[in-house]
Amino acid sequence: MPIHKIPAAQAVPFGPPPAYSATPTATTGSKWNPMNWSKKVLIGAIAAAVVIIAAIIIGAVLGTRKSAYPDYSKLTYTLVDEYSGTDFFDNFDYFTGYDPSSGFVHYVPAATANSTQYNLTYASSTSAVLKVDTTETDASTGRYSVRITSKKQYDSGLFVFDVLHSPYGCSTWPALWLSDPNNWPENGEIDVLEAVNQGNVGNQMTLHTTDDCKMDVKRKETGDVLETNCWNGTDDNAGCGVQGDVDTYGKSFNENGGGVYAMEWRDAGIRVWFFDRDSIPDDLSSGNDSSPDPSSWGTALADFPGTDCDISSHFKNQSIIANIDLCGDWAGADGVYTTEYGCPGTCEDFVATNNTAYETAYWEWSYWKVYTADS
Ligand SMILES: *[C@@H]1O[C@H](CO)[C@@H](O)[C@H](O)[C@H]1NC(C)=O
Ligand SMILES: *[C@@H]1O[C@H](CO)[C@@H](O)[C@H](O)[C@H]1NC(C)=O
Ligand SMILES: *[C@@H]1O[C@H](CO)[C@@H](O)[C@H](O)[C@H]1NC(C)=O
Ligand SMILES: *[C@@H]1O[C@H](CO)[C@@H](O)[C@H](O)[C@H]1NC(C)=O
Ligand SMILES: *[C@@H]1O[C@H](CO)[C@@H](O)[C@H](O)[C@H]1NC(C)=O
Ligand SMILES: *[C@@H]1O[C@H](CO)[C@@H](O)[C@H](O)[C@H]1NC(C)=O
Repeated sequence: MPIHKIPAAQAVPFGPPPAYSATPTATTGSKWNPMNWSKKVLIGAIAAAVVIIAAIIIGAVLGTRKSAYPDYSKLTYTLVDEYSGTDFFDNFDYFTGYDPSSGFVHYVPAATANSTQYNLTYASSTSAVLKVDTTETDASTGRYSVRITSKKQYDSGLFVFDVLHSPYGCSTWPALWLSDPNNWPENGEIDVLEAVNQGNVGNQMTLHTTDDCKMDVKRKETGDVLETNCWNGTDDNAGCGVQGDVDTYGKSFNENGGGVYAMEWRDAGIRVWFFDRDSIPDDLSSGNDSSPDPSSWGTALADFPGTDCDISSHFKNQSIIANIDLCGDWAGADGVYTTEYGCPGTCEDFVATNNTAYETAYWEWSYWKVYTADS
């Protein structure tokens, strides 16, 4: 059980006890006999004892929390949904509203995305592609792109994404994630793949939640921890992120033929594994319909244990979402677009005029599969 609140004992103030006008009582007898202590000394002794006990309790709680780790023992998974083939995009709604992340983008409806004038989404028997428009040379109010949301929602499971190409390039902000956009952040958000601009610093996996979901606990992961408080009110909704190495996203990832991302979401915690094209486990090889077993895959890239975060209350009713935003709150921030990534001019000018830069701005997936655990 996670303990969210520090025991009330900590509220006892440190420092000197209140300065009562203590009347000396006993003047004789041993000073080691509490019966003989003055009120002032007695209060001081009690306060000291309370402080020591509180420190022991807090220390024990923190120590327990530090070594606590959830039971991730094997679950038996059954395939419930496969997104692949020519009807890949039938299973999604196309979001067409104003971009909630302030991007310089027009998310187009399915008919526009499908049209041979743009080809922003299309699928064959072997892959599905979602891309940014590369034709418009004067996209002065924002460039066409796509954001799809699965019609189906999930409450747990094993989500496997075989990624052939990840989008990258100045101004882009691509993501493959899960959320309930109508109930955010109450129902949580799980970002499985996310990067900005050249996407050359490694994939970022992040949770966003309401308050009381922290990852400052024991974890088993190979990625680098960025922040540990998942609450959207922390650091302007930065989320609790974990970053993979350079080859987990972008140009080098694509040149290696991409790879498979697997995200397991269960009450014990949320974990993400990445396997490059050459090291995909047999139980995830495409065409293998046997039950995948994450407990056989070794250390995850990102581990978000439920130790100090009640996973089942923070994550519910999640759709799978894929999009490529442009500029916006993250990719377009000055400190990011210009300072961190050294992209030219302003983000919005780049989007408006540099259509050929978007040749690398596309997702290509072989398949997505969703498994749920037998209960
Ligand atoms: C878009 O194309 C997909 C795949 O061919 C198809 O299932 C869907 O009905 C199309 N939607 C529209 C609005 O044309
Ligand atoms: C879209 O795809 C169709 C069929 O493959 C092709 O004829 C057309 O030129 C493409 N349009 C663009 C803008 O790439
Ligand atoms: C689940 O998510 C969908 C999409 O955001 C939303 O329309 C629906 O109301 C949600 N259902 C519940 C029970 O929260
Ligand atoms: C965080 O979520 C709350 C709703 O729970 C919302 O009012 C607030 O604006 C959000 N803050 C950020 C920075 O997203
Ligand atoms: C499918 O996965 C199982 C379990 O890991 C493995 O034993 C089997 O060899 C795999 N089959 C193929 C065709 O990869
Ligand atoms: C357009 O994008 C390319 C990268 O694809 C970049 O090298 C070039 O500097 C950009 N041009 C302008 C005017 O921003």
